[in-house]
Amino acid sequence: MLAGVNPVIIQRLQEFPPASRLDPEVYGNQTSSIKRKHIEKNLDGLTVDETYASRTLLFLQDNGTLRPLAIELSLPHPQGDKHGATSLVFTPADEGVEGAVWQLAKAYAAVNDSGYHQLISHWLNTHATIEPFVIATNRHLSVLHPIFKLLQLHFRDTMYINALARQILINAGGILELTVFPGKYAMEMSSIVYKNWVFTEQGLPADLLKRSVQTAIEAWVDDYCSFYYSTDDMIRDDTELQSWWMEVRNEGHGDLKDEPWWPQMQTRAELVEACTIIIWVASALHAAVNFGHRRFMPESGTPEYAELESNPDVAYLKTITAQFQTLLGVSLIEILSRHASDEIYLGQRENPEWTSDNRIVERNNDSRWKNCNGPVKVP
Ligand SMILES: [Fe+2]
Repeated sequence: MLAGVNPVIIQRLQEFPPASRLDPEVYGNQTSSIKRKHIEKNLDGLTVDETYASRTLLFLQDNGTLRPLAIELSLPHPQGDKHGATSLVFTPADEGVEGAVWQLAKAYAAVNDSGYHQLISHWLNTHATIEPFVIATNRHLSVLHPIFKLLQLHFRDTMYINALARQILINAGGILELTVFPGKYAMEMSSIVYKNWVFTEQGLPADLLKRSVQTAIEAWVDDYCSFYYSTDDMIRDDTELQSWWMEVRNEGHGDLKDEPWWPQMQTRAELVEACTIIIWVASALHAAVNFGHRRFMPESGTPEYAELESNPDVAYLKTITAQFQTLLGVSLIEILSRHASDEIYLGQRENPEWTSDNRIVERNNDSRWKNCNGPVKVP
């Protein structure tokens, strides 16, 4: 349940306890409150130096499955952000009130996970960040341009669905704010996370790299681009390509235009890298995140805690999102997760390829057609 909806954000733990990248001057000490004592009893004899996780700590077991070790729930400090967060740490329990508390903690983690999944992994990292590439491709590359032909199919329906999302989903008072997402802060969160977006880091997680999926897209794009661009000079001299990239960087992603990681688009290697990332984000990564899917923690001594002891199921239902909002939210995600009836898979084309490249070369080299060039010798 915990690792379910959004496996693309699970990361290997680099340090223990997990640290934060927030500025301590502004947000105080945000280092995790999860201690060794919380998790070592469930580590099958290992120590904390051998775990995998984020602030929900998950243990990758020998059988390849993930087991939750600890969940840390944090609130802003009542005296202000610079004092750090106030945090509670929960660990697995099967029975009694501890079992009910653990059940609730997992529900909180799952709600945060699904909110992050739809807002950041799905909307921001695929739909929103690819949009400038779609616009610049249509504005600057002619329909005969090889890079237009390469990318166009991967942008199918993106502008349409993004426009619809702006009207009813992510707008102020829209469906996202009404359901399981963090109300009026939903888009603000997404905007803040975008400030740290890095185009060249949008490649594949290591587990997919291992299965050679990234390599397949990259090898294919490299073959394709090498057919049209035999030298780096041809990249620099392609005015359509250069104005396309200028617009993506300076207009579409204008807030990030001065970041050092932008490919300069001066070499074929840079073109291949950029097209590989765009195709990966707009196809397989998007598919992975698209398809699929209060009250505070009761404190001991309160009536809510007593209810948790006597009737944990009722307490659980009172805490999680109400029935109507849940139905609305689940229906929305169900609709958003539908596959189109006219899907086209990677490597397939929507229309017969009238400029089938290899065939043109073959026929140009066929002596039977040597008189078909016309006076200007265009093959
Ligand atoms: Fe989507």
